[in-house]
Amino acid sequence: MAEKPAAIIERFPGRAAQVCIMPGCGGIFGLNERVYVCPKCSGPLEIECKPPEGVLVSALRARWDARAVSQEPQDRSGVWRYRELLPFDEGVRCVTLFEGNTPLYEAPRCAQYARIDSLRLKHQGCSPTGSFKDTGMTVAVTQALALGARTVVCASTGNTAASLAAYAARAGLQAAILLPRGQITASKLAQSMDYGAAVFELDGNFDDCMRLIQELGSEPSIYVANSINPFRIEGQKTVAFELMMQLGWRVPDQIVVPGGNMGNSSALGKGFDEMLALGLIDRTPKLNIIQAEGTAPLATLFAALDVKDATAAAQLPEMALLAVEHPRTLATAIKIGAPVSWRKSLRAVLRTGGQIISISEQEIADAKAMIGRDGIGCEPASATTVAGIRRLAASGHIRRGESVVAVLTGHVLKDPDYVSQYHHGTLSLETDGAPIKIAGTFANVPQRVAANKTALLQQLEARR
Ligand code: F0G
Repeated sequence: MAEKPAAIIERFPGRAAQVCIMPGCGGIFGLNERVYVCPKCSGPLEIECKPPEGVLVSALRARWDARAVSQEPQDRSGVWRYRELLPFDEGVRCVTLFEGNTPLYEAPRCAQYARIDSLRLKHQGCSPTGSFKDTGMTVAVTQALALGARTVVCASTGNTAASLAAYAARAGLQAAILLPRGQITASKLAQSMDYGAAVFELDGNFDDCMRLIQELGSEPSIYVANSINPFRIEGQKTVAFELMMQLGWRVPDQIVVPGGNMGNSSALGKGFDEMLALGLIDRTPKLNIIQAEGTAPLATLFAALDVKDATAAAQLPEMALLAVEHPRTLATAIKIGAPVSWRKSLRAVLRTGGQIISISEQEIADAKAMIGRDGIGCEPASATTVAGIRRLAASGHIRRGESVVAVLTGHVLKDPDYVSQYHHGTLSLETDGAPIKIAGTFANVPQRVAANKTALLQQLEARR
């Protein structure tokens, strides 16, 4: 790789700015302007950061390696370790729970199940609040403090809420979270309660909560921490940096992530783009997004797209996303019919030659059980990845010998009811008509046994 100083972007004064991504808009806003979408065209904003002047790629990597074993609070965080590429000045008061630093596992059973040679799982569920949201929340809450906000708010299917509640508590800010009543898991709700957030349960779905949040965003004392906020994406993009360090800077062929509100996929796309621009990597992996069949607006749009044309044009196609009005899935984390960051994630998929597909509830449930059998475990939404890889391998998009990384987004204990019902064969999805029954294909049910050694050994023998 050529050893040259990172190129400096000269589109704005200062180190970073918020930039509208819509082709032809050109809106640029300061970091301290509290805008979440472009005030000119309502398009999505992203942060452009000038890389440190004159720093060589090898020096940057060496710096990050050194910080990974340092005990300084900013270095211990797997987000702030990469602060050269974050839009903050030295000396900012970081709100951190030492997020990031998540494991990358080999998953041989999952690879076999997906019919590929090997598969690695980056488990973002192994984080302070048990989901990938923490890498974004440390940055968003740090910015909320810097702006002097009093209250941080979010709409959530549960994980964003738990994460925001925790980081707001660390920062001494009020947190207000809006949840669709009866549609989030007990574990996630319990977390938000324990971290002391003001919890509001709305009669409606996630998309209704999100609409209300966008209205609240105009209040000066309130700061919106959903992934529509480009500072969230800045934190989440560092997962791509950490992954590349773990892979010894060997770029994988394929990355696979679940898709809900599309913040995660947008962030990974941005992380890889930035590393490419800096010369830290010489190509990007194909970014693939998997949605649940009952709530797959972006997969539907993608299927209707002339991908070759859109990729050649290297810009966002002039299309509108058709929202799913009544989203349905047991993977409640991704039960979202109108994802706010779809343009950013579609752009990343088109740039890298990835795909966006949807899969059934049965496929999610069986893939989740497989991830468990590898000794890893995850919540249902995360399992869309392994199920998606199986589909993409069958269709030939993923080739057997390619290096593939799936990003698991939530911990197995985020939804214990789902796990228990799958293994007992009682899992089912309510619909307008007959409920869809999910088979416990890889069920593992607790067995009753008499309280003596012989009986126990007999049953163990029978299971061998
Ligand atoms: N996986 C899990 C476990 C999630 O909690 C989410 C989103 C996703 C995947 C999808 O990620 O939205 O960035 O595309 N959960 C949000 C929440 C919406 O409120 O916790 P995305």
